[in-house]
Amino acid sequence: MIEMIDLHKSFGPKVVLNGLSLRVGEGDTVALVGFSGAGKSVALKHIVGLLQPDMGTVRVDGTDVPSLSRPDLYELRRRVGYVFQFAALFDSMTVAENLAMGLIKHGGFSKDEIEERIADSLERVELEGYEENFPAELSGGQRKRAGLARAIAFGPKYLLYDEPTSGLDPVTTTVIDRLILKMRDELGVTSLVITHDMDSAYCISDRIAMLYDGRVLQEGTPEEIRRSQHPVVKGFVEGRPELVEEGSGGMRIFANTPASRRRI
Ligand SMILES: Nc1ncnc2c1ncn2[C@@H]1O[C@H](COP(=O)(O)OP(=O)(O)OP(=O)(O)O)[C@@H](O)[C@H]1O
Ligand SMILES: [Mg+2]
Repeated sequence: MIEMIDLHKSFGPKVVLNGLSLRVGEGDTVALVGFSGAGKSVALKHIVGLLQPDMGTVRVDGTDVPSLSRPDLYELRRRVGYVFQFAALFDSMTVAENLAMGLIKHGGFSKDEIEERIADSLERVELEGYEENFPAELSGGQRKRAGLARAIAFGPKYLLYDEPTSGLDPVTTTVIDRLILKMRDELGVTSLVITHDMDSAYCISDRIAMLYDGRVLQEGTPEEIRRSQHPVVKGFVEGRPELVEEGSGGMRIFANTPASRRRI
């Protein structure tokens, strides 16, 4: 289980997380949605120790992440695959080299095993035959799939997806959504998916949580979120800024400073 309990995180004067609590139970797929700049990526980075909270608790399988030693953190990152927002592939390396790098760095895999894992991961994301291509030779959707292949090469128990469908056309988005479901069904992974694409969120998740003002404003099944009467949630899912402004008492939508500091 992934647990974030009462997380607080600021960068200088900017408050980003302000009491965020979210649990992702074994086998669940949870979507974390919210406006651009709400702090979704910041929240995700805490789970693998890329960021440290100012206050609050982050646990994976009951282990307190911020207090892990470096070797234990590396071990954690084998269990928690991270699909980065912009794929984060190295341009000077082929797809296969990008996938191999993490496996080599972590150690413990033979050359044959590495090759086998690369082939298996690329096949799972339907990128077989692209081993020798460079990231620049891939489309946006293929790049995202390569990022996913790299994350599953370790055989993770958890997958964290940061905007897996942003910038993709609707058909490619559906392909990625299906892949996320396939990872759940075939690999049995527990997933936390950051997205602002509500169609994706409805399609892939058991539960949806909306991050707003540094904490989870509402959490529920896709149906509960779809039918939410909270003006901010309703405004977000229906793409109606006037509802959001009304629901937040005339505040700006996109700023992520505390409400008290962002009156228009
Ligand atoms: N390392 C950092 N140092 C300073 N500020 C940061 C850092 N990382 C994030 N921020 C700030 O935290 C806020 C939240 O950023 P974050 O990337 O989590 O947003 P997001 O919800 O993922 O948005 P998007 O949907 O656009 O990806 C932003 O204002 C950003 O500038
Ligand atoms: Mg982000």
